[in-house]
Amino acid sequence: MKLSLSTLLRWLLSFGIALAFQDDLLKKCSQSGFCHRNRQYAKNIQESRNSHYSLDQGSLEFDTNNHTIQGFIIKSIKANQKDIKIPLPFTLDLFDGDKVRFRLDEHRSIKLGKAGINLQRYNETEHWAFDPDYIPIRQEVIAKSPTFWNKKDFTFTADRFTVTLSSQDFQINVKYDSADVLTVNSDNMLNFEHYRTLEENFENINEEEEPFNMFKDSFADSKSDSIPLGPESVALDFKFHGISNLYGIAEHADSLRLRDTSNIDPYRLYNVDVFQYKLNSTLPMYGSIPFVVGIKESLSIGLFWMNPSDTWIDIQYGHSDSSTHWMSESGIIDFIVIVQETPKLVTESYVNITGKPMLPLLSSVGYHQCRWNYNDEKDVLTVDSLMDKWQIPYDFLWLDLEYTDQKQYFTWKPDAFPNPTRMLSKLAFLGRNLVTLIDPHIKSNYHISEAIIAAKVYVRNALNKPFFGQCWPGESIWIDTFNPLASKLWSKFVQTFISTPSNLYIWNDMNEPSIFDGPETTAPKDLLHYNGFEERSVHNLYGLTVHQATYDSFVDMNPNKRPFVLTRSFFSGSQRTAATWTGDNVANWEYLQLSIPMVLSHNIVGMPATGADIAGFFGNPDDELLIRWYQAGIWYPFFRAHAHIDTRRREPFLLNERTRSVVTEFIRLRYQLLPTLYTAFHDSHSRGIPIMNPMIYEHPNVANFYDIDDQFYLGEQGILVKPVTSANTKSIPITFPSGVFYDLQNLEIAHFGTLETKTVSAPLEKLPAYIAGGHIITRKDQYRRSSRLMQNDPYTLVIAPTAYGTAKGRLYVDDGETFAYKQGKLLEVELEYNKNVIYGTVLHKDTSSFFNDISIEKIVIAHHPDGKVAETCTLELDDIRTNIEVIHEDHSHVIKNPGIQIGQDWKIIL
Ligand code: NOJ
Repeated sequence: MKLSLSTLLRWLLSFGIALAFQDDLLKKCSQSGFCHRNRQYAKNIQESRNSHYSLDQGSLEFDTNNHTIQGFIIKSIKANQKDIKIPLPFTLDLFDGDKVRFRLDEHRSIKLGKAGINLQRYNETEHWAFDPDYIPIRQEVIAKSPTFWNKKDFTFTADRFTVTLSSQDFQINVKYDSADVLTVNSDNMLNFEHYRTLEENFENINEEEEPFNMFKDSFADSKSDSIPLGPESVALDFKFHGISNLYGIAEHADSLRLRDTSNIDPYRLYNVDVFQYKLNSTLPMYGSIPFVVGIKESLSIGLFWMNPSDTWIDIQYGHSDSSTHWMSESGIIDFIVIVQETPKLVTESYVNITGKPMLPLLSSVGYHQCRWNYNDEKDVLTVDSLMDKWQIPYDFLWLDLEYTDQKQYFTWKPDAFPNPTRMLSKLAFLGRNLVTLIDPHIKSNYHISEAIIAAKVYVRNALNKPFFGQCWPGESIWIDTFNPLASKLWSKFVQTFISTPSNLYIWNDMNEPSIFDGPETTAPKDLLHYNGFEERSVHNLYGLTVHQATYDSFVDMNPNKRPFVLTRSFFSGSQRTAATWTGDNVANWEYLQLSIPMVLSHNIVGMPATGADIAGFFGNPDDELLIRWYQAGIWYPFFRAHAHIDTRRREPFLLNERTRSVVTEFIRLRYQLLPTLYTAFHDSHSRGIPIMNPMIYEHPNVANFYDIDDQFYLGEQGILVKPVTSANTKSIPITFPSGVFYDLQNLEIAHFGTLETKTVSAPLEKLPAYIAGGHIITRKDQYRRSSRLMQNDPYTLVIAPTAYGTAKGRLYVDDGETFAYKQGKLLEVELEYNKNVIYGTVLHKDTSSFFNDISIEKIVIAHHPDGKVAETCTLELDDIRTNIEVIHEDHSHVIKNPGIQIGQDWKIIL
């Protein structure tokens, strides 16, 4: 076996010797054949001002039934006195009122080549990335009269769009309400490396192209890449007019607003295992979502580049425009442009295509306690009972790698876990759950790998034989979950493993896939998958196919129960079935700080169920860092503490008294806010609203917020948070938008006026968090050991009025566990406060559900700048009027036990 640097680092790691990830494990753009070629081409073509792509006007067809425009783009090559023309078929569609989709492919006459390799360009991304239920609504497209044609351009309109295809230098110009919003191939960087053989290669390039590494790879760890199909990259540039702020393309350990990459390497999307990853960098990470959002006042644009191969993106901010240059190693050009008035609507539109983020188990919104590893049943049950002893709520306990029998997934280490069912039912007694790690690398020579080999559903090497590589168990094979038969087999394994207990869930780790002796920590690009597609073409989708297969296994077994699956690797569409996290971070302030823009970034690209390991995976956090990390972490949609095998134990009950009490207080705050959080999850599920929500998403017209990524909102709930992410901090600056803001804990007014950056006090026990005037949030205040035990607990309503004495809120409730909400078994309540009258109005109710009868125990109204409230108020409920006392406190008025159930319509007059 070849011993690569990555293998060595990993092995040292498994012996407890943690070394930092080495950048030189990964290619720089200049070392990646296609990235270098395309960057160079872009530079040269801008200098030469040539254009080698034009529209074949004679080929254009306008399919009026489908409202699709199709035809050919001609690539011309002038080399060695020859003039070669390569026709590339394209389609262009307008749909849903806000989207334009363009696809460009290549005709390759034969399908299968040597050793079962598929010669076609991979064009099945949408099969994985799109919501299976998504049906585009075709728009009526009108060719612009009087000239359907003119000599150069072909223009047509649909609703608010005007799209022009210009023919000589191929470009697509998109106008929205007659204003230019986006130009495709504006800088002539379109490059489509058509199929050619080594022998004919040199006759087949234009003068701006550089033949660097077209048929070989000179990077040390991937020299053995056979590159059987030669160069086949695709690249294109997009100019965003009037936009100088771009966001998205998760996952990167970088600021929320993307950086200009003119003088650095492009952002790269390539799913790799980057333990202890580098911060403030454009390096690739575990997941890839090729979706960028451009924001300006009153208009936002989304661009979804639907290509799962290794992809690099250059960003350039101009004077008032910005350009993005997308370069993918193989596959087709397939992109969707979305134009909307606000960034939130762009994200919503994107999740309409790729699928709504799943509505999670309510319990999974609670606290997750994980470490590598809890060693045996006794250890598990001790952690469980100590959490209770110290009155720290939690919902999920996790078992990492070591619970298995010799790293053979779907088995339990027999001495340590002699009776998993017994252990699971003890956890279930208090409504708790267990997650076990199951990775897609399967140790050689045991019944699971043997079954995979017998069914021929393994990932194959370039010779069409089973691929063997190194991972945790030593020599392993990888299941090829692109293959429907593999998913079926996986289902069998999963279902046998989870059998009856309903509180056992699965974590798919290392599914980039991570391969210790593979190039760039992952799979050789010439491996083969289902239907003969190369790893090269489908790489960034593999993780999704694995967690999707896991999710389907659960649903297949228990169709009405929501599964919980955590995946490390993801692609567009992963949000439908899995949560994720930011991987192997480090217990230091810089990682805490960067976790916020990283999670925000995941949220705007439709993958909201994300968190960072609290309080850093590698290393031992001191008490101050631990406290600050929990204060920030309670706002991550996925709230999990996790630690490397080599770290000291740090479960909250082990901390010294002061640290434990502050950490406990904040975990409890998360639980108090579960009704509000779950409503935010529902908004994300129904409309794609980010759960950890960037300032610029709520205030797209306020330029001050374009760069702010260290404070955020919780969904649309009006809670504004600025976590402390630096040591020895007593106070921090926060930028308040205009309005009234009340301290979340004591409701004191913290800000009243126009937009302003203020310094607020933030001693160690204090988390700067506020409720914006105009919102009503809901809480459940009683401490319970788990979310299940809070099920019937009463609600507290907290009203934060504007200066005009108005506020609104919404509460979403369902059983938190099943898919019954899809049949309407849910409760939706609108809450309103208007000039001293409070209204509770049921928007939707299923009369048979238990949660309708839960009472409201308290209504708290913050003192607003202009408000006066009397000593008593009047409740109107079922035509009966009752007087109730109002208690006046320092910063609020409180109504206790008004005798209202959450599923009723009511009114209180103050
Ligand atoms: C890598 C994961 O990122 C980490 O969270 C996990 O603890 C280890 N694999 C061991 O399974």
